[in-house]
Amino acid sequence: MSEPLRIGLAGLGTVGSAVLSLLERNGALLAERAGRPLRVVAVSARDRPRDRGVRLDGMRWYDDPLALTADPEVETVVELIGGADGIALALVRAALGAGKSVVTANKALLAHHGAELADLAEGNGATIGFEAAVAGGIPIVKTLREGLVGNRISRIYGILNGTCNYILTNMRQSGRGFDEVLSDAQRLGYAEADPSFDIDGVDAAHKLALLAALAFGCRPDFGAVYTEGIRHISPLDIAFADEMGYRIKLLGVARRTEYGLEQRVHPCMVRIGEPISEIEGVFNAVVADADQVGSTLYAGRGAGGAPTASAVVADLCDLAKATRTPVFAVPSGALERLPAAPMERHVGAYYFRLMVVDRPGVLADVAACLRDHAVSIESLIQRARRPDEAVPIVLTTHETTEAELIGALGRIGELDTVVEPPRLIRIESL
Ligand SMILES: NC(=O)c1ccc[n+]([C@@H]2O[C@H](COP(=O)([O-])OP(=O)(O)OC[C@H]3O[C@@H](n4cnc5c(N)ncnc54)[C@H](OP(=O)(O)O)[C@@H]3O)[C@@H](O)[C@H]2O)c1
Repeated sequence: MSEPLRIGLAGLGTVGSAVLSLLERNGALLAERAGRPLRVVAVSARDRPRDRGVRLDGMRWYDDPLALTADPEVETVVELIGGADGIALALVRAALGAGKSVVTANKALLAHHGAELADLAEGNGATIGFEAAVAGGIPIVKTLREGLVGNRISRIYGILNGTCNYILTNMRQSGRGFDEVLSDAQRLGYAEADPSFDIDGVDAAHKLALLAALAFGCRPDFGAVYTEGIRHISPLDIAFADEMGYRIKLLGVARRTEYGLEQRVHPCMVRIGEPISEIEGVFNAVVADADQVGSTLYAGRGAGGAPTASAVVADLCDLAKATRTPVFAVPSGALERLPAAPMERHVGAYYFRLMVVDRPGVLADVAACLRDHAVSIESLIQRARRPDEAVPIVLTTHETTEAELIGALGRIGELDTVVEPPRLIRIESL
């Protein structure tokens, strides 16, 4: 058997300890498939005495993860600490600077610093494997970089955050409100104590920036992703969506437009029956629209120790086999700096809900605002006549621009019969 791939592993939390378990459980199989054993020779975490349920014997321990990069036996560094900056960034920079390839599950790090780190990797004859950073157990990075290499991709989109998908699925099935379902998700371990990165769409935006880089050959640009979360989604909107034949999903969508690259994360109405509408609970899915194969959908577990470890180990096998691909599919110097398409230029159909005082003439006022902005109504639902009380009116539009729609909603919101700010959800045409 050939020499092992000697690994330094930083971070022994959910993912790090799952990687060690996987390497122990399937070590012989992996050695066969990789052509050489995958051996962790050194590890680092903060709390040395903590029992992590995995064997650490035979591995050197470093309190400081940067020591892994100076250890001459370590060929490859696995970064499973997390965070866009701080020690994770310092570790990855040091490893690449020393010519050691890196495997990471850290989407925040790569969404913010991916272009710089890809340059650094290439300049030092190293690479970065980040299969685990996007949609956990779904091998979408390899799929885009290798399986679909013969295709031009026109759009990539997906359900990229399991916490949000769990909350939206549960709200629909139970009819309960956002706060109540979020508390449940936290109790069950599907949401963090501080859930803001997930529910505000930031985590999905990190992943979208990486998918867009792979799909469109551009430098990842997290700052260019329009990001809106799910806090404002109400059971009323979910019920109306259902009645009109839609599911509400938090999607990340990237596509080329005449104004540049559009990258956006926000709640979307998707037609019931579209494959992505069936992805429920904590599951993730990614759809690539490509010129040769058409649309392909990839679904599976987007997080959790074992699925994420599966992706980390896949990257380690590639390194063991010396299969080197550029970090974002093309050499970093060839990655384009695509202009960001402004959200006001977005063209699509919209759903919006108004709470109005039930008086004659309300609809005519609303219709006039829409007419003045050339927004055409596709459907309208008005419920339960209760004179002088607030009742919902729900409208969907034909395709229009975001700028016109926002302009019309601004005027509608100022009508004295409209008692709450309009609630808007974009309809995604799939
Ligand atoms: N959890 C998932 O399902 C999942 C899925 C996909 C991607 N990811 C990504 O994977 C990465 C790790 O996530 P995780 O859930 O495994 O995190 P975690 O459970 O919080 O583990 C983090 C680990 O990093 C160690 N650590 C923190 N600061 C350190 C420092 N200064 N020096 C050395 N070690 C340090 C911690 O040490 P102690 O244990 O001693 O405190 C811990 O072992 C993140 O980038 C995350 O976004 C996670």
